[in-house]
Amino acid sequence: MNILITGGAGFIGSNFVRRRRRSAPNDRLIVLDALTYAGNLGNLDGLLGEIVFVKGDICDAAKVKETLAEHQIETVVHFAAESHVDRSILGPGAFVRTNVEGTVTLLGEARAAKVRRFVHVSTDEVYGDLSATDPAFTEKTPLGPRSPYSASKAASDHFVHAWFETYHFPTLTTRCSNNYGPYQFPEKLIPLMILNALEDKDLPVYGDGQNVRDWIHVEDHCAAVERVLDQGKDGEVYNIGGMSERTNLDMVKAILKGVGKPESLIHYVKDRPGHDRRYAIDGAKIERELGWTPARRLDEGLAATIAWYRANPAWWQAIRSGEYQTWYERNYAART
Ligand code: NAD
Ligand code: DAU
Repeated sequence: MNILITGGAGFIGSNFVRRRRRSAPNDRLIVLDALTYAGNLGNLDGLLGEIVFVKGDICDAAKVKETLAEHQIETVVHFAAESHVDRSILGPGAFVRTNVEGTVTLLGEARAAKVRRFVHVSTDEVYGDLSATDPAFTEKTPLGPRSPYSASKAASDHFVHAWFETYHFPTLTTRCSNNYGPYQFPEKLIPLMILNALEDKDLPVYGDGQNVRDWIHVEDHCAAVERVLDQGKDGEVYNIGGMSERTNLDMVKAILKGVGKPESLIHYVKDRPGHDRRYAIDGAKIERELGWTPARRLDEGLAATIAWYRANPAWWQAIRSGEYQTWYERNYAART
């Protein structure tokens, strides 16, 4: 199978590439990634000789068309997105462009190229938020996004569905909860808190720290996306969760304990505007229909993640210094 993986130089996309190389070594993997601030070829370290990397923007129809044709793409797994809620509050335009226009461009070109399977990687945030006592999101929960990020992802989900209904284009959509694990850009809660703790810096907790997220190790998410890719039914949506709801404060305290630093590093800061209170995933459908459940316990996954950031200072120091952004020119573009 020739698979186009958009956003494959980001956090989840690169973990997916690594997993797929192991699980299906005969597949040809082509990564299309614009290398925005969140894209990092260092995330694909050790894999670049085994896959094809194309630097390109999913909003660039000509580039998408050329890539699909040149590599005879049969399947698309679409991770590329602007993914950080705080950035969407400061500048929604990039989110509309990539998440909505980019997805529509990709859908149009993939259909024209007669792609046979299109997996759209979405998020539980499209459902909106929950109170402490609300039941978890099912695939039938009406969409109710509340941030510019989640609004742009919800719009992309609607377009994906429209392509299935209108053109009978074979799309599948996944909606996952909060990921953590190796190669996550240190603007997100878990890596930011781990690195700040390692460096004895303040850990900024928004509001009262009582917002709840359902945490899933990125390898579990990638395993679920792979299951949907290989066995999912066209036109369907699959929720993916980690069965691990925690408050932010509990997560931050667990990180401090894991790193061996005092809780006095916790620093309460102004809340995120429109901060979703709680997300929770009902994962019964993917378990029932595709036999998938998460394999990693949160305490084990978090310990392994802390160990990974401890063991890989070169990876995160290159991000902190900005050096990672010139990696492509220095190491890759020159050779291709
Ligand atoms: P990320 O921000 O780490 O990576 C995004 C990648 O997309 C980067 O490599 C970036 O360079 C690339 N990209 C951005 N704009 C592009 C464009 N216009 N053209 C081509 N490439 C572009 O994101 P992530 O956390 O790995 O998330 C991947 C996907 O999974 C996103 O669609 C996100 O909405 C979804 N998701 C994320 C989580 C999570 O907890 N991180 C949970 C559920 C779903
Ligand atoms: O639920 C899935 C979503 O999870 C994905 O679709 C998004 O791409 C991903 O970014 C993530 O969104 P969140 O907003 O939940 O993740 P973030 O890591 O930004 O924040 C997690 C929680 O921690 C949230 O309640 C805000 C809080 N927080 C975050 C940061 C960065 C803090 O308290 N302090 C911080 O410094």
